[in-house]
Amino acid sequence: MMKFYLNGKEVETQAPSTMRLIDLLRDEFQLIGPKEGCGEGECGTCSILVNDLLENSCLIPIGAIEGAEIITIDGYCKTEQFQILSDCYSEAGAVQCGYCIPGMVMASAALLAQNPHPTEDEIREGISGNLCRCTGYNMIVDAIGLAAN
Ligand code: FES
Repeated sequence: MMKFYLNGKEVETQAPSTMRLIDLLRDEFQLIGPKEGCGEGECGTCSILVNDLLENSCLIPIGAIEGAEIITIDGYCKTEQFQILSDCYSEAGAVQCGYCIPGMVMASAALLAQNPHPTEDEIREGISGNLCRCTGYNMIVDAIGLAAN
């Protein structure tokens, strides 16, 4: 049995240590915020925070997260900071199909937590691991810039 913290609560699982974290989150804990896109660490739709650092949950075997603090969009969306980001994403028109947005918001959260007033280049760097097919990124960059002010 393994224990870790999930969106602020201690949880445990009997799942095999080689199971991917994204599968554990979605299948055992019914947290469907992290999406599977590529499954290879390239697209960022499965992004979560592990001990405050942005990670791709498709690449992490659950044996690596014993005792760690995991935050998914499902938990983050209950925070005040999420509401600010959500309002800014809306204001900037940064959501189109929406598939990338849970991961984008987690990347935004990680960036702003480490750097509350990023430059445009720093914002682009902060979301560089997250792909979006619809927006051309500019509205997302604008949204994060709005949230930073
Ligand atoms: Fe994890 Fe694409 S599904 S990075």
